[in-house]
Amino acid sequence: MPTAAWARFSDAASARAHLRETGAPIVVKADGLAAGKGVVVAETLAEAEAAVDEMFSGAFGAAGAQVVIEEFMEGEEASFFVLCDGETALPIGTAQDHKRVGEGDTGPNTGGMGAYSPAPVMTPEIAERALDRIVRPTLREMARRGTPYQGMLYAGLMIEDGAPRLVEYNVRFGDPEAQVLMMRLGAQALDLMHAAAEGRLGEVRVNWADDHAMTVVMAARGYPGTYGKGSVIGGLETLPEDGFHMVFHAGTAREGGKFIAAGGRVLSVTARGASLREAAGRVYGMIDRIDWPEGFCRRDIGWRAL
Ligand code: GLY
Repeated sequence: MPTAAWARFSDAASARAHLRETGAPIVVKADGLAAGKGVVVAETLAEAEAAVDEMFSGAFGAAGAQVVIEEFMEGEEASFFVLCDGETALPIGTAQDHKRVGEGDTGPNTGGMGAYSPAPVMTPEIAERALDRIVRPTLREMARRGTPYQGMLYAGLMIEDGAPRLVEYNVRFGDPEAQVLMMRLGAQALDLMHAAAEGRLGEVRVNWADDHAMTVVMAARGYPGTYGKGSVIGGLETLPEDGFHMVFHAGTAREGGKFIAAGGRVLSVTARGASLREAAGRVYGMIDRIDWPEGFCRRDIGWRAL
């Protein structure tokens, strides 16, 4: 399987010694769940060493007890979503997300500031190659070991010169990728998941409209660092909610009949269109009607594809 070279460390001194051998750019990862913030793509050795020290300092809790140092992969990232029933792999969509907080994909990593589907970089040929060389061999090996995988498989891929390599697997939908997939799949999503649970994926097919979806995350100012809670979000009641427009709530609460911010990533404003440009126009049209001075979003989601 085409994957990145990596090594795992339990103490800072060994990790630093390894870094001095590999040099930069290099990727430093807390070996556990860190709300999407446990990955540092270090351009320099000093940055990589600082990331190792921070992770072992306890800043990431149990997730930082071990650190993985991984080869830096060149290319364009894409997310590939495949439903599995233990034997059959059924692709249900592709997406690209924007992990950095700042426009132009700059600044610290976040859980995701926006996404769009389909991912233009995932041509049918590359998707087929990823299925043949990455996903199906994984399913076969898991079945051979007596632990067949049934559920959602999210392959994070890096595409370079038409070749997909595996960055990571998640056994869940992505956030905010799920929002764009749900917009495009509609009600059939439930039937497909039901078929996966009952081992019937070989009998079903995905019906795709030839459309595009985009979601833009609105976050509380300060995210992914410290941010305030409790500010009032106005204007949501004026927005359309139909098969083309949807606001997914991630970090809101209701207080006295009003929506208030109760998290870092607070809303995913999502739309579908005949083109990505049309979807983007609808999303930013909705965002402009949301009255939330304490929130912010990126205004360039989808820039590569647009
Ligand atoms: N958006 C990245 C993830 O859900 O892991």
